[in-house]
Amino acid sequence: MAWKGLLQEFREFLPVTEKTPLLSLHEGNTPLIRLERLSAQLGIELYVKVEGANPTGSFKDRGMVMAVAKAKEEGSHTIICASTGNTSAAAAAYAARAGMRCIVVIPHGKIAMGKLAQAVMYGAEIFAIEGNFDEALKMVRRLSDIAPITLVNSVNPYRIEGQKTAAFEVCQQLGKAPDVLAIPVGNAGNITAYWKGFKEYHERKQTGLPEMRGFEAEGAAAIVRNQVITEPETIATAIRIGNPASWEKAVQAVNESNGKIDDVSDAEILEAYKLLARTEGIFAEPASCASIAGVIKQRKLGEVKEGSTVVAVLTGNGLKDPAIAMEAADIAPMVLPNDERIVFEHIQGAVHQ
Ligand code: F0G
Repeated sequence: MAWKGLLQEFREFLPVTEKTPLLSLHEGNTPLIRLERLSAQLGIELYVKVEGANPTGSFKDRGMVMAVAKAKEEGSHTIICASTGNTSAAAAAYAARAGMRCIVVIPHGKIAMGKLAQAVMYGAEIFAIEGNFDEALKMVRRLSDIAPITLVNSVNPYRIEGQKTAAFEVCQQLGKAPDVLAIPVGNAGNITAYWKGFKEYHERKQTGLPEMRGFEAEGAAAIVRNQVITEPETIATAIRIGNPASWEKAVQAVNESNGKIDDVSDAEILEAYKLLARTEGIFAEPASCASIAGVIKQRKLGEVKEGSTVVAVLTGNGLKDPAIAMEAADIAPMVLPNDERIVFEHIQGAVHQ
């Protein structure tokens, strides 16, 4: 049977009523892929949940379809969000699909080109402030309090409801919950959503519960350091967040699950980013690779046990941020004249003399 999107596929788990429009871009049902080489190298069963396969290329589609459908059901005409890029892309797409107005506020110069291109194409009204994500979020929260505009950041509980479905899918695909769930942490909505999802699925289907391991970027590791970071900095712009809105809920998820919020450096993120693409053929954006970097770090330290089953969430598609890819890769196209002989000469070893 063809996949119908989250609101229909997981209706019994979601706040979907007869009045909820069954909005869909066929989000969800993303692949869970076993990493053959990295599993062998690390001595674990390592899988990735490829959320970059969603319609706008990130996990945000799961939450946005629910939040926008409920906004529409409640008679709202306009949605608003602050974003490091992916939320704005998803909000703009689902607003277009639902025939609603979409306003996004982003940190100027700190969002990846692919994400901006999406928001532009989907017709959002875009404001780039000379400030960071945390400041943008403060503004849109206030505006949505005083104006008839629906806030669709992950402080909107419908976002969490939609995003929890990824945990259901992991359990279905693996046949049970993994031992460890590794996930990047920015505003901390997604780790909150996964934990809620694993608990609800376990209650109904006895699939077990994973240890939740969340990974912040070192330069934006507010939860790890237990202090707000006023000027967060990281190459992983998606998680360049210094005051996560769901801070307490993330701490609660790791406490309840015997997990941990940890950090990884930009160098570790970039290393994992390249490794994943070159050894497994999977291109995820830098922030996503914080999960893989974290697993590698904790495996070395013995914090992830040999033989354990680990699912790392790859939150966004690598194509979102081509500029970082071109910078990070040490491969560049070699420009040659349009001459077969010269081209063949350069492809050393391919042609036997
Ligand atoms: N990975 C990617 C690719 C993201 O875009 C985000 C968040 C995260 C991880 C972290 O998820 O915030 O739920 O902890 N992006 C938001 C945005 C902030 O505006 O697109 P989180």
